[in-house]
Amino acid sequence: MKQSFLTAIVAISFIVISGCGNQKLNSAVAKIEPIKGSGVHGVVTFKQEARGVRVFAEVRGLAPGNHGFHIHEFGDCTGEDGKTAGGHFNPAKYPHGGPDDKHRHLGDLGNIMADNNGYGVIDRLDSQITFEGAKSIIGRGLIIHAKPDDLSSQPTGFAGPREACGVIGVAK
Ligand code: CU
Ligand code: ZN
Repeated sequence: MKQSFLTAIVAISFIVISGCGNQKLNSAVAKIEPIKGSGVHGVVTFKQEARGVRVFAEVRGLAPGNHGFHIHEFGDCTGEDGKTAGGHFNPAKYPHGGPDDKHRHLGDLGNIMADNNGYGVIDRLDSQITFEGAKSIIGRGLIIHAKPDDLSSQPTGFAGPREACGVIGVAK
């Protein structure tokens, strides 16, 4: 009796521990902070859904209009011009493009459009972003630019200086 009770405890512990080990990441977040006193700041979240990853961004302090919005290779916002974040995250080695292009940098999320109050929102489902393996966005950088991304100029969309930076981390 006592023996089988212990066996059950061991078995349940094993299931719980291995279950935790297999738990997939399904949510990430980046706090966006200003570069060089730009005043641009906000939060970007990434959540796994059945048909892709939901990208939701709320950003304040922008000049009205479009601003390039990308995942960059490195989660390093230490440089005062944001260049320490490297170029666009591009694990598949495709050319620069727009968020709806099949062949694009993985980090090409297009633009965030700010209203006259400097407030911008993105809410879209992305079919390419992943939290697993070599293409994982975890630990990469999120950069917002001063100018619009034209979605075609190589290799950056001509989006100009970097105005804000964040590091994409695992979320609860
Ligand atoms: Cu960028
Ligand atoms: Zn790009």
